[in-house]
Amino acid sequence: MCGIVAYLGEQEACPIVLKGLKRLEYRGYDSAGVALIHQNNLSVFKKKGKVTDLEKHLADKAITGSIGMGHTRWATHGEPNDINAHPHFSSDSRLALIHNGIIENYATIRQELMHKGHQFLGQTDSEVLVHFIEQIQKENQCSLFEAVRIALNEVVGAYAIVVMSADDPNQLLAARKSSPLVIGIGKDQKEFWLASDATPIIEYTNEVVYLDDHQIAILQKGSMEIKDISNVPTTPYIQYLDLTLDAIEKGGFDSFMLKEIFEQPESVHNCLRGRLIAEKGHLQLGGINKYIDRLLYAKRIIILGCGTSWHAGLVAEYIFEELARIPVEVEYASEFRYRNPIIYPDDAVIAISQSGETADTLAAIELAKSKGATIFGVCNVVGSSIARATHEGAYTHAGPEIGVASTKAFTAQVTVLLMMALMIAKKRQNVAEAQFSELLYELESIPEKIAKTLKINEEIEKIAHIYQHSSNMIYLGRGYNFPVALEGALKLKEISYIHAEGYPAAEMKHGPIALIDEEMPVVFIAIKDNSYEKVVSNIQEVKARKGRVIAIVNEGDNLISSMADHVIEIPATYDVLTPLLTVIPLQLLAYHIAVLRGCNVDQPRNLAKSVTVE
Ligand code: AGP
Ligand code: GLU
Repeated sequence: MCGIVAYLGEQEACPIVLKGLKRLEYRGYDSAGVALIHQNNLSVFKKKGKVTDLEKHLADKAITGSIGMGHTRWATHGEPNDINAHPHFSSDSRLALIHNGIIENYATIRQELMHKGHQFLGQTDSEVLVHFIEQIQKENQCSLFEAVRIALNEVVGAYAIVVMSADDPNQLLAARKSSPLVIGIGKDQKEFWLASDATPIIEYTNEVVYLDDHQIAILQKGSMEIKDISNVPTTPYIQYLDLTLDAIEKGGFDSFMLKEIFEQPESVHNCLRGRLIAEKGHLQLGGINKYIDRLLYAKRIIILGCGTSWHAGLVAEYIFEELARIPVEVEYASEFRYRNPIIYPDDAVIAISQSGETADTLAAIELAKSKGATIFGVCNVVGSSIARATHEGAYTHAGPEIGVASTKAFTAQVTVLLMMALMIAKKRQNVAEAQFSELLYELESIPEKIAKTLKINEEIEKIAHIYQHSSNMIYLGRGYNFPVALEGALKLKEISYIHAEGYPAAEMKHGPIALIDEEMPVVFIAIKDNSYEKVVSNIQEVKARKGRVIAIVNEGDNLISSMADHVIEIPATYDVLTPLLTVIPLQLLAYHIAVLRGCNVDQPRNLAKSVTVE
């Protein structure tokens, strides 16, 4: 998910590569490394930590060479450490490779290579790929390009790779599928730059080629050739960039938060990648197997989290109790850790954390562990403190979330929790085969439905204009969407500074309805689930008291559009999957109101991305 930079030309490569890696720093990473070729010698230097740590490591090293590449890693397979950092090299140390993405079938390939005598230093999927290329080149006695091409026809997953060989000291090979890769072209093609986005390139040239999926670029001083993995040459489509650095970092969006909201079709797809294959009825979370029985036979599941992660836990409570029929308790980690809770050794605990560094959640985990409970983690940062403190877990693979307000992490957390609950429900035979299969197919279609939901962005912006000066707002939902109402209120509070509260819709008559008047906007999640009729009544109760209603409804709902002041239509899905769609308009509403109020949506006042203090 992180960063690739490479250079081939007439200048010293290392300074260009290091500067480029720093340009990609905004994408977040856990380790970094470079590979250089000089006089047919390939050198690899890599370190856990920041690019500055790598620079210190390089201070006394021989780093000459006019061809080089570098990588900042966002770990998906294998702890962040020096060994697992990229570049990875072949058995004979003649090949080096850097990779962004996930090779889903790496375990099978690794097994086959080990039978052929390959030994692996680390635990990454990427290291397998460079050994695979080496093995293919050896067995077929073919060119490096041909070996890369054959390998890429075999791998399943996402990749942006650059490969260098000490035997081809004037050549860079680059290829991509699903992960981005840009080629910067120097004057007369005497120099080339490669990077995950244009930020490391734009200061040298604005002449670029964005590689397409299944394409391989062969770069040599003075020449560029692009072929696809079927060996069919393609004519490079050269573009001329006129973007600023800041615009490129945010992918053309005005803020990281908006970029991350719009990344959700891809981040949820990455979360499902290699884990859920509906047509094969396959559902497997690789990180949860050794202790799976502790979940399977748990008498109780305790879910720990803070903020948005706590909201994801509340959604999980409804999901696990509905599908797996296991009692669930959801706890604010900050409360749980201090209230001397009753914890049994056969309790299963699920700790949810995007950053994996939230102090309260970490402390709550240690408390539960001390009482003998088994802890499962749902984190976004591989190798984070919480990930390491748990017995097992599943990463959300949402990629770095830079905006302080959590958006894509929430939908990724809910996706992982859904897969966990479905896995358990299937093993406990609580769901029929047909229902299980239907849910797998529908979950697999969610990224597409999120993309469709995002099309309401302009409509939401118009609604935001109307309510930007509100002093308060109420969010109401029922069932699976009660936690989503809480999440919508939190989003508004934390980036627009408008006071907002979320409630179960039925709770209004127990007090909060006294707040309703023509000054109080009320956001209803009113999709056609099993509480729809009740929510319709709740809307009527609010309208009877002159409240202003914004309703999130399913496409074609004419009933509520005759009552509410504004309706936002989203695609329908199974009840248990609705939070993955209903949260999207709430994220956008909060975002646009905050922007209209001149707030800094990426860094709201008083907040930090990770609350590592108590
Ligand atoms: C949510 O938008 C906030 N950034 C905050 O509530 C956050 O969810 C909470 O601090 C928990 O963080 P974590 O998921 O990294 O543990
Ligand atoms: N899956 C690879 C790893 O875990 C690459 C991760 C990345 O994109 O940085 O090392």
